[in-house]
Amino acid sequence: MTKTFAVIGDPIDHSLSPNIHNAAFNALGMDCTYIAYRIPKGELKEGIESLRQIKISGFNVTIPHKIEMMRYIDELSEECKTIGAINTVTNENGRLIGHNTDMDGFLEPIKKRNIAIKNEDVLLLGAGGAARAIAAGFAKEGAHKITIANRTKEKGKELAKFAASLGIESNETSLDEAGQNAGKYKFVVNATSVGLKNELSPISTNAINSQNVVYDIIYMPMNTDFIAQSKKKSAIVIYGYEMLLGQACLAFEIWHKVKAPYDAMRKVLLGGF
Ligand SMILES: NC(=O)c1ccc[n+]([C@@H]2O[C@H](COP(=O)([O-])OP(=O)(O)OC[C@H]3O[C@@H](n4cnc5c(N)ncnc54)[C@H](OP(=O)(O)O)[C@@H]3O)[C@@H](O)[C@H]2O)c1
Repeated sequence: MTKTFAVIGDPIDHSLSPNIHNAAFNALGMDCTYIAYRIPKGELKEGIESLRQIKISGFNVTIPHKIEMMRYIDELSEECKTIGAINTVTNENGRLIGHNTDMDGFLEPIKKRNIAIKNEDVLLLGAGGAARAIAAGFAKEGAHKITIANRTKEKGKELAKFAASLGIESNETSLDEAGQNAGKYKFVVNATSVGLKNELSPISTNAINSQNVVYDIIYMPMNTDFIAQSKKKSAIVIYGYEMLLGQACLAFEIWHKVKAPYDAMRKVLLGGF
């Protein structure tokens, strides 16, 4: 019987996850399908129930359900417990098991480039769900210090506290100051949603230089202003689509227990831009 997988969220029409996973099924000749399923905010419980009814094999969770999903799960991975959010679920005979592949999916392109994280300093822009997974990732890899810059100061402080609770030195700053000091950090990561609508970079890139690793987790558009300006300053750049692929490959491997066909998934993703 064909196995069905899904991504749930709202909005979901423009999700690239069905393209990525269906390309992987095609590449490996698997009898599986992956659909996008819109579940509006406030309707998660009913939505999950209907997924159980059709005996969904597994699903990804995106905005706005990543945190609320924690309430409807039977078992949680260690990553979910740490991050407090779920992006991947497996259905094992009716038992829903929660995972979070955002953290390791984020780290994957850094590791692929053999860039060391241990003892390095990080400037993280944003303090939402994605920023939380990223802060946990840098803590796990033994970064020296993480500085959070967020529009809403209180949330930035909260995330700095969360990072400290994971054993990494942390502090909070403004987006203005972050721009002035960006050159001093090995990693400068944009985890705000600024850029999605082609906005200018969330910080000034004047101080960015060739020693910076500039990582924008926005994947649509691929070349955000933050990335384009940082490239002009000769920074090493990492694109949001690489994280998207990283988390998708890890979800694929959790569900299917076989190595994800990275090249086929990457090809269809880049064709989608
Ligand atoms: N590449 C990937 O695989 C991947 C994975 C996950 C997420 N993402 C992308 O990452 C982005 C953030 O996701 P999320 O789940 O963390 O969202 P979220 O929880 O809604 O957080 C949004 C963040 O952006 C900030 N922000 C929004 N508008 C802003 C503005 N005009 N100026 C300055 N800051 C602003 C918010 O600051 P306030 O606290 O002040 O509101 C908050 O820190 C989204 O664009 C998402 O598509 C990519």
